[in-house]
Amino acid sequence: MFGKRSAGADSQRADARPAPVAPAPKPAARANDLPHPAARPQASAFSELKLNGDAPMASPPIAPEPAPVFAETRRSESFYETKGQIFSALIEAIDLTQLSKLDPLAAREEIRDIVNEIVAIKNVAMSISDQEDLLEDICNDVLGYGPLEPLLARDDIADIMVNGADTVYIEVQGKIQKTGVRFRDNQQLHNICQRIVSQIGRRVDEASPICDARLPDGSRVNVIVPPLSIDGPALTIRKFKKDKLTLEQLVRFATVSPEGAQLLQVIGRCRVNTLISGGTGSGKTTLLNCLTRYIDHDERVITCEDAAELQLQQPHVVRLETRPPNLEGEGEVKMRDLVRNCLRMRPERIIVGEVRGPEAFDLLQAMNTGHDGSMGTLHANSPREALSRLESMITMGGYQLPSRTIREMIVASIDVIVQVARLRDGTRRITHVTEVVGMEGDVITTQDLFVYDFLGEDAGGKIIGRHRSTGIGHPRFWERARYFGEEQRLAAALDAAEVIDETLRA
Ligand SMILES: Nc1ncnc2c1ncn2[C@@H]1O[C@H](COP(=O)(O)OP(=O)(O)OP(=O)(O)O)[C@@H](O)[C@H]1O
Ligand SMILES: [Mg+2]
Repeated sequence: MFGKRSAGADSQRADARPAPVAPAPKPAARANDLPHPAARPQASAFSELKLNGDAPMASPPIAPEPAPVFAETRRSESFYETKGQIFSALIEAIDLTQLSKLDPLAAREEIRDIVNEIVAIKNVAMSISDQEDLLEDICNDVLGYGPLEPLLARDDIADIMVNGADTVYIEVQGKIQKTGVRFRDNQQLHNICQRIVSQIGRRVDEASPICDARLPDGSRVNVIVPPLSIDGPALTIRKFKKDKLTLEQLVRFATVSPEGAQLLQVIGRCRVNTLISGGTGSGKTTLLNCLTRYIDHDERVITCEDAAELQLQQPHVVRLETRPPNLEGEGEVKMRDLVRNCLRMRPERIIVGEVRGPEAFDLLQAMNTGHDGSMGTLHANSPREALSRLESMITMGGYQLPSRTIREMIVASIDVIVQVARLRDGTRRITHVTEVVGMEGDVITTQDLFVYDFLGEDAGGKIIGRHRSTGIGHPRFWERARYFGEEQRLAAALDAAEVIDETLRA
């Protein structure tokens, strides 16, 4: 052992029996990995059709009731007090530089040994399970991201939101809930934030209080510290899911009906220029990822993202990522730079993770100049709002173009807007598939192809609704679908999604 423990501590150790140590606790029991589907739309004759030749989409199995939502139990004050004392003794006893040279498992073992000794020496009265929790917590504090570790280990969590040392929220199954997790104090939280951002060579402090970073597993992190965040550091983590949801799964969760999924497949395959619009965490990136699955394998695709989240299955993909400025404020590469550069890389399609600034102009130009089938996501609450956001992004980017010209450019570029929403029961729904049709005077005209009707709420608070097509048999991209040999599938999907009951349309 390499600990720098004092002789005194060693001599006390001779007659002190290390407390028995139970095996390390497994990460907290996981709730269902995937959110619970809400009321499933009724199966139709169409449901016999297959999704891209995969398993039939008919009668998606009804998922089990959601597992009880797991919430961390808040531990007693005395637990935290004891942990503080043991932690201080450990820091005294251990040589952190030596520890950092060990591999994580060996370092963990080393810490466990020393903590057990300290517990024995200090004669701490504690149940075995508390002692195990304490060991785990201390190992996490020294080697990992402290109290965040158990949350990071869970696959069912979509977001972790830390609002200062005492308040941690998580999103599970589409619902935000408070956990009992807390940090020793804001300093510990700040240190953990620092540890996270240092991995990308950044620092957060008063001088530079905002930072975007990524965890080694790809999770997206935003840190904002005092004085900008008033009640201590605020840390937001979008957990990276290795197994991205597929369109089949979205059908199972009733995010979209089987017919709607067919429509989206046709859109994905037939090089329709598509914008995915939705609120924060509504599932835009997830849906974009689903659509990219239907891109033909011989197309050259270039993706531009702030943090690489997309997982394209195609062989010919170039992935690009923006770069924040370094500590001296230099070296920033913005989304706009990437999209512009993309155009010189002979792309067939360009996929922009999130359009939020002047790159909107370059994406539209790309869509307009032979890069059909380009796609992007955008933050807006309706297809119409998506169009006006697009326009204002271009205006704010400093282009001195008359608004009519910008609108004409939008009409010439965007074919379809797919709107996603996170409903108040936590489920996600595709609420519109809307075509951009043309201009009437100065106004862009659109037509909905496929919509979601809200019908009510069941006794358990789940929203009931139904997807339907609007009766438009020949969308504007019909010719394109014909060119790709997909017109039968398109027609069948739209036909089958039609709702006969007129009262629903009222
Ligand atoms: N249809 C869905 N059903 C259930 N969960 C979903 C669905 N779509 C997305 N999710 C989950 O919701 C979380 C957020 O999804 P996603 O990152 O796609 O949202 P987003 O709209 O791109 O968010 P942001 O605005 O932060 O970029 C992820 O954990 C994802 O797995
Ligand atoms: Mg996103």
